[in-house]
Amino acid sequence: MATIDNTVTVDIANGGKAVAIKNRENQTTRFHSFWLRDNSPDADTRDASNGQRLITLGSLPDNLTVSAAYADGTTLHVQFQPEDKHVEFDLNWLLQHPYDKTDETGRGWLSSTATTWDSSLDVTSAQYNQLCEDPQTLRDWLSDIEQYGFAKLSNAPVEDGALFNVIDLFGYIRETNYGRHFEVRTEVNPSNLAYTGLGLQAHTDNPYRDPVPTLQLLYCLESSAAGGENMVVDGFRAAQIIREENAAWFDVLSQYCARFEYAGSNDVALHAKRPMIELAPDGELIGVRFNNRSAAPFTDVPFEKMELYYEAYRRFSQLADDPALQVSFKLKPGDAFIVDNTRVLHARKAYSGTGTRWLQGCYADKDSLLSKLRTLNNKLG
Ligand code: FE2
Repeated sequence: MATIDNTVTVDIANGGKAVAIKNRENQTTRFHSFWLRDNSPDADTRDASNGQRLITLGSLPDNLTVSAAYADGTTLHVQFQPEDKHVEFDLNWLLQHPYDKTDETGRGWLSSTATTWDSSLDVTSAQYNQLCEDPQTLRDWLSDIEQYGFAKLSNAPVEDGALFNVIDLFGYIRETNYGRHFEVRTEVNPSNLAYTGLGLQAHTDNPYRDPVPTLQLLYCLESSAAGGENMVVDGFRAAQIIREENAAWFDVLSQYCARFEYAGSNDVALHAKRPMIELAPDGELIGVRFNNRSAAPFTDVPFEKMELYYEAYRRFSQLADDPALQVSFKLKPGDAFIVDNTRVLHARKAYSGTGTRWLQGCYADKDSLLSKLRTLNNKLG
């Protein structure tokens, strides 16, 4: 990460409504007076122990300006008026929080923490014992989940309920109407197609929930049946391909909501309405939902757009089935994999009725995983 040296020059800009910091390479980074005052690190503005803000926006004067600003080493001194308040900022901290950017990223841009992939992804599997004992291994594994939306682990205990120990490494179970966990094996009278021996098209789980579970763990306890390989597909890659092939397809899938529902058992009627390709208001690609089995009738797409919508939806379905995008693997007892369920589609190939295949699955959430990753990064450097 770039750091500031003591050769910066500081100017007041926009008639006192901003401060401009120019580095030795003549790159200027501007910060508005309100932004600076709101982010002042002094003890009257921020609680020294937990960093939480102690002021409200209403306590700031309407005519807030900067009357003086200068650098002293790595400290930026700012005088705010009409409070006549002196605040010191760490210039390195400011440089790590820039917003004076001119990059035109367009609709569907990706965070730098995400890297998209196809069938050539080289999948490594972390050893369970190392994940438990070595913070560096755990950090790298969590980092893979952030970057690729997918990771595997091996040689974990072959015990009923052992999947919870994996979630304990970084966070918390998301309990649903399926329970704290669910069993995935053949049933004679399945209430959900996941419990039969049929192959399943690649999908994200539970799009009929809002919020959707953001992580899914599948953990293998028995695997003597032929077939039944798992596969994963990067939904962000599929969305990028759709955007490249036809921007209008990308637009309809991101601008109109699909509907999803599940009512497969008594006293459950889950409904959700969200786009298949979800963008943040600034165009960042933040989520994908694809689950043909759980799709409800789409009633939010205008009549004039529905034909185009189905073209785009069918293309998404083709990409979910495209071997060029799929990473396949067979789980052994004690193997598990985790997917970012807002991004990566997962699938199972058909398996035979002889022998057994028993997986246990559960949901969890990314916020605690990313929190654990940040704290490990802070500790390990
Ligand atoms: Fe699934």
